[in-house]
Amino acid sequence: MNDNMSPIIIGCDHAAYYLKGKIKEFIVKRGMEVEDAGTDSEESVDYPDFGIKVASMVSTGRYEHGILLCGTGLGMSMVANRFTNVRAALCGDMFSAIMSRRHNDSNILVMGARVIGESLAMEIVRAWLETPFEGGRHLARIEKFNNI
Ligand code: RB5
Repeated sequence: MNDNMSPIIIGCDHAAYYLKGKIKEFIVKRGMEVEDAGTDSEESVDYPDFGIKVASMVSTGRYEHGILLCGTGLGMSMVANRFTNVRAALCGDMFSAIMSRRHNDSNILVMGARVIGESLAMEIVRAWLETPFEGGRHLARIEKFNNI
C-alpha cells in the first residue's frame, strides 16, 4: 500500500467521532481521498450500523481499504471480521499495525479512540498506509481463511 492507493472508506461511532475528523484531515493532507460513512456527530449510535457499512463495501471490493473506529475498537473489529474478504486489524501499537499489513494484508484498520491517544493513532494510520503486503507464504495463509 502507498499514497497512490485507492480512496479509503472510514466509519465510526459517537465515541470516535472526534478522532475520525482528525484522521480524515491527515489522510486528505497526504493527497489521498477519503469517503466518510458516518456517524456525523457525537450523538449516541450503534457501532454495528457503521461497521457494516464500511465492511460490506470492502468485502464487495467497492473500496480496497477502510478504517473503523469506536471506543475500544473491539465492537468494530468483531463486526468487520464477519465479512468475507475482510481482514480487519485492531491496532493499538505500531508493531501490530505494520505487521498487519506485511503479513496479514489487513484491509481495514480498526482503532479504539478511548484506548489510544491522537498522536499514536496518527502514527498508526501513517504506518498502515505506507506498509506493503509481503505476499509469498503470507498470501497462501490468507487464502486459507479469506473466503470461509
Ligand atoms: C460505545 O459506548 C462503545 O461501546 C463502543 O464505542 C465500542 O467501544 C464498542 O465496542
